[in-house]
Amino acid sequence: MKLQVIVGSTRPGRITLRIAKWVVASAEEMPDVEVELVDLADYNMPFLDEAISPRYNPNRTPNPEAKRWLDKLAQADAFVIVTPEYNRSYSAVLKNAIDYVDFQMERKPVALVGHGATGGAQAIAHLRGVLPGIHAATVPAATFIMRATDIFDEEGHLSEEAKANPYGPHTALKQTLDSTRWYSDALATARAKA
Ligand SMILES: Cc1cc2nc3c(=O)[nH]c(=O)nc-3n(C[C@H](O)[C@H](O)[C@H](O)COP(=O)(O)O)c2cc1C
Repeated sequence: MKLQVIVGSTRPGRITLRIAKWVVASAEEMPDVEVELVDLADYNMPFLDEAISPRYNPNRTPNPEAKRWLDKLAQADAFVIVTPEYNRSYSAVLKNAIDYVDFQMERKPVALVGHGATGGAQAIAHLRGVLPGIHAATVPAATFIMRATDIFDEEGHLSEEAKANPYGPHTALKQTLDSTRWYSDALATARAKA
């Protein structure tokens, strides 16, 4: 499985990057997984600048930064989006990046890892409403993280105290990644048959 972990915040000092690094390290422990961190901060995309909706434009020529982003997504079998919660939703930069997508995530699983005062619950719920628009399949399991600054260091290492808690985020992440693998295998088989 080629898994991309998408960093859904681009602001300086973002906590999302710490969590994304932890997701990458955790996924790397799974057998037969190729993991890549995909950072939206590396893609300087303008607000969607196309006259025709991407999915309905057979002659589409996206701007060069968007093309880089789309070509990157096309390489993956599955995704984890790590999302912050801003004003009871996910980030605007993530919405813009999703709006550029035409078919690169279609029929592929997307797992959600959120953080915030309520574990990013509203960001995750909103993404579950949005991702069907690009025909991505959201993984039922998700990971909700509270007190992220207390439990992750800058490099995304989870504190020993959190690791010792059986209800800590590592338990939820394991379930989320295992489920992502299951859907990735199932959907890859189905895509190959189609
Ligand atoms: C504009 C803005 C709005 C926010 N709104 C919420 C919110 O509605 N719910 C919440 O739990 N946290 C909220 N927060 C706190 C963020 O969850 C927290 O700052 C987190 O670190 C953001 O992720 P980031 O550092 O990776 O950007 C907000 C932060 C910002 C900057």
